Amino acid sequence: MTTNLPIRIVPSTLSADFSRLGEDCAALETAGADRIQWDVMDGAFVPNITFGPDVIAASRPHTSLPFEVHLMVESPEALAARYVEAGCELLIVHAEACVHLHRTLEQIRGLGAAAGVALNPSTPAAAVAQVLDLTDMVLVMTVNPGFGGQTYIATMEPKIAEVRRMIEEAGRDIDLEVDGGIGPGTIAGAAAAGANVFVAGSAVFGHPEGLAAAVAELRGLAEAARAG
Ligand code: DX5
Repeated sequence: MTTNLPIRIVPSTLSADFSRLGEDCAALETAGADRIQWDVMDGAFVPNITFGPDVIAASRPHTSLPFEVHLMVESPEALAARYVEAGCELLIVHAEACVHLHRTLEQIRGLGAAAGVALNPSTPAAAVAQVLDLTDMVLVMTVNPGFGGQTYIATMEPKIAEVRRMIEEAGRDIDLEVDGGIGPGTIAGAAAAGANVFVAGSAVFGHPEGLAAAVAELRGLAEAARAG
């Protein structure tokens, strides 16, 4: 089930050069990316540790692109304000990490940011059914979170379609993002299922013809899949 919401290509800095994050953010803007995603990991919710708010703040002046932050952390409500202060305008929290998800989404919006909810592969779409009125984007993970370069889990496509149906039935313009193993061989399936926002790390930074070619190729493939 596809959508008319605009297609967004959102590179993840998880595959960037960590010694040149500012420059890589500037290069992503030049390459035509729509937004930049920061994969924040606390070593507890997922077995990896990445970016604190100060690292993101240091990169903020290097690009005018919007920053979204994927908070793969145990207590996102405790950190949300710091990532907004660092320059992130969309905060994505995991349903699995939020005992009080409804309250956390209200908190994020209260900070002036947009609110996203991420679902791990084993978490049913129903987990967002009661909070769509507080949600600007649903992220259906197509890998188990923690690392880049993993294999796309194609069995998530029925779940993508189910989330898109829920959004349509709610009558709201809520983006549906996918993240994990998104590349030239997988983006069409995710787009055809109903995703309109695509996060890619290794497929962008590892493209043999460079960032701009990667972004353009992914955008073209997603548009073609939607056109059927
Ligand atoms: C997993 C991360 C990755 C990253 C993209 O926790 O969220 O999915 O954003 O990684 P690639 O595009 O390399 O699979």
